Amino acid sequence: KKIALITGGYTGEAEVSFKSAAFVQEQLDKQKYDIYPITITLDTWFHVTETGIKIPVNRENFSLDIDGHILTFDVAFIILHGSPGEDGRLQGYLDMIGIPYTSCGALTSALTMNKEYTKAVIAGIQDLYVAKSVLLFGADRKEAAEIVQQNLTLPYFVKPNAGGSSIGMSKVKALSELQEALDKAFDAANTGCQVLVEEFVTGREFSQGIFRNAKGELVVLPATEVRTTREFFDFEAKYVAGLTEEITPADLTEEQKERASGIIRDIYVRLDCKGMVRVDFFLETGTDKFYFIEINTIPGQTPQSFIPQQVRAAGMKESDFYAELIEAAIL
Ligand code: DAL
Ligand code: MG
Repeated sequence: KKIALITGGYTGEAEVSFKSAAFVQEQLDKQKYDIYPITITLDTWFHVTETGIKIPVNRENFSLDIDGHILTFDVAFIILHGSPGEDGRLQGYLDMIGIPYTSCGALTSALTMNKEYTKAVIAGIQDLYVAKSVLLFGADRKEAAEIVQQNLTLPYFVKPNAGGSSIGMSKVKALSELQEALDKAFDAANTGCQVLVEEFVTGREFSQGIFRNAKGELVVLPATEVRTTREFFDFEAKYVAGLTEEITPADLTEEQKERASGIIRDIYVRLDCKGMVRVDFFLETGTDKFYFIEINTIPGQTPQSFIPQQVRAAGMKESDFYAELIEAAIL
């Protein structure tokens, strides 16, 4: 099968996407799949051949003209974090030209890119809680600090509402730090220019993957606990080795594991997900409640990322796991 492995993107997560795509490419079985990495940036879409020749993508049908031979694809494997690969744009385009892909559809991708709107759809899922929050729009920017102080109790997490990899995010422990954090988040917020401020939940942080296999069954992966020496799990903690201790499978009681896995299944179904997704959450100290942080529909696949760790902890090989995603996409 001919696979378009789509990477790149318009945001600061592009560098993460390149690493993720390189890892997926390395793992995929070359006997079974012909893999063509395709990079999408703001101005070009292209493939670079093994001999280093850059070939533009014909956007009318997502094909490549390689020495007069027109190459089309059976499946698109999307490993592009952030816009336009995780927010539904690319999914909508592929739907229109009829190429199946490995991830959630356009609506789910667009919705889940917006952290606060997602919470509205998953509200009411049993045993799942959300932190108290305010959503700020571009027009609120001048009064933002005042709105936050009036509605929420310190400490806060301040982040672009449609971001990823903690870019533009701050933890605010004192009011004197709030304005700078808001400015940073507004400056980093791209689509919609929304900033999300949430009350801090004291507890342990976890991340857990789930996917639909080629038989159409949902498979929950083991959770990972994140323990960082930094203030929170920021961009450096995520991608610089050694700054974070990541425990997979996480040390949870049987009851907590069962509860988490029920919640994650419910989220997957409620949001009508496809392919692999990863849910991030806190387990609050004292109350033992799971709080939803966000869902990632194109979760990181760098060698340090959680999904590859969880796949190995589940006793699977990455090559088999990625093959399941491809086969499930063309069911
Ligand atoms: N947004 C990053 C890539 C992740 O969720 O893994
Ligand atoms: Mg994310």
